[in-house]
Amino acid sequence: MTPGRPGPAVSAPAPDTADQATKDAMSNATTVSPAHSASTASTLITNIASLVTNDPSLGDGSPLGLIQDAAIAIEGDRVVWTGDQSKAPATDNRVDAGGRGVIPGFVDSHSHLVFAGDRTQEFNARMSGRPYSAGGIRTTVAATRAASDGELAANLTRYLHEALRQGTTTFETKSGYGLTVEDEARALRIAAAHTDEVTYLGAHIVSPDFADDPASYVALVTGEMLDACAPYARWIDVFCEKGAFDGDQARAILTAGKAKGLHPRVHANQLSYGPGVQLAVELDAASADHCTHLTDADVDALASGRTVATLLPGAEFSTRAEWPDARRLLDAGATVALSTDCNPGSSFTSSVPFCVALAVRDMGMTPDEAVWSATAGGAAALRRDDIGRLTPGARADLLLLDAPSHVHLAYRPGVPLVSGVWRRGVREV
Ligand code: NIG
Ligand code: FE
Repeated sequence: MTPGRPGPAVSAPAPDTADQATKDAMSNATTVSPAHSASTASTLITNIASLVTNDPSLGDGSPLGLIQDAAIAIEGDRVVWTGDQSKAPATDNRVDAGGRGVIPGFVDSHSHLVFAGDRTQEFNARMSGRPYSAGGIRTTVAATRAASDGELAANLTRYLHEALRQGTTTFETKSGYGLTVEDEARALRIAAAHTDEVTYLGAHIVSPDFADDPASYVALVTGEMLDACAPYARWIDVFCEKGAFDGDQARAILTAGKAKGLHPRVHANQLSYGPGVQLAVELDAASADHCTHLTDADVDALASGRTVATLLPGAEFSTRAEWPDARRLLDAGATVALSTDCNPGSSFTSSVPFCVALAVRDMGMTPDEAVWSATAGGAAALRRDDIGRLTPGARADLLLLDAPSHVHLAYRPGVPLVSGVWRRGVREV
């Protein structure tokens, strides 16, 4: 799958194209030539106690495709072989995993990282009993508008490094703290320098400049602002919630974005029951995010469509809210992703491992399910099939854990267990 849209120059490599080598690699072959022939030396990571491949045709046959006593070979930016270490191919270099676990890099499919300032006082007030509301976003809008491009870029880079150290190898991020044509477009331009997964969220809240005239703000978001932002973005999002945008407004915004070639994702059913989830499924959104307040019909819709339910437990943790019921969604057959929602208001964490631990402890997920959702689930929420798995042809994004298996991510909450990070075949941590 080609994940990105043609757009402005970005410093990251262009989205991977599904050239023939990659397509071959994604078939059943167990050893393939690297997709990018200009590649460098091959490396074998061996002595892996437990390897999560996310390919159920491998290893124990579970969704995690768990292989014990495994090895993985990478060449260039791709995985070229995974399997039993006794059958590993010869490579130029070897890395001894020392009997530890290896998993795919985390795919954080929902974050809001282009912002300035923080909301410490709001958090303090919440922990004294004040409820969270969408209105707090205005504080960050004011700080973000006042910041220079350099300050916003430096802030983004800081949180990206923080996330990388904790194992995030792919991330999506959004605008939504500018809410003017210029401020939304610059947020997306800054984000696009770091990721192909950029989301236009001019419809985060009604801009304070249009407080008395929300219809005119929707017209701006679907008109001039969309035109300015679409070249930098792959996705369009809307906060469909009381105090933000209702179902009709959300439909108009997402439909306008689709007409400009952006694909929908929706902040849905976070603070209350509402139309967001059903609208997301109806419009074939890649993801309905939050999904905290769901009717049976919402669950059925998610289970029957291909819209992923992205759960963001950092938000419920940081707002002392009711947990989303992952078990109910999984039992109904929905695809579930786990992400951080990293933002200065409702969820100021960049840690996917923290979210995995919360999801297991409080949302009814098993450790296997949570790790799948934070890797393959995130990839599904971004409609990507080149990441979130460790099989021949996939991108060589992987984590060496300071633990014998992925289960320890939930079993040892708060412990920095990510001890090595390879991204596109290069060790970065
Ligand atoms: O996903 N729900 C809407 N947006 C963010 C919160 C943004 C903020 O509070 O600044 C969220 O939780
Ligand atoms: Fe969000």
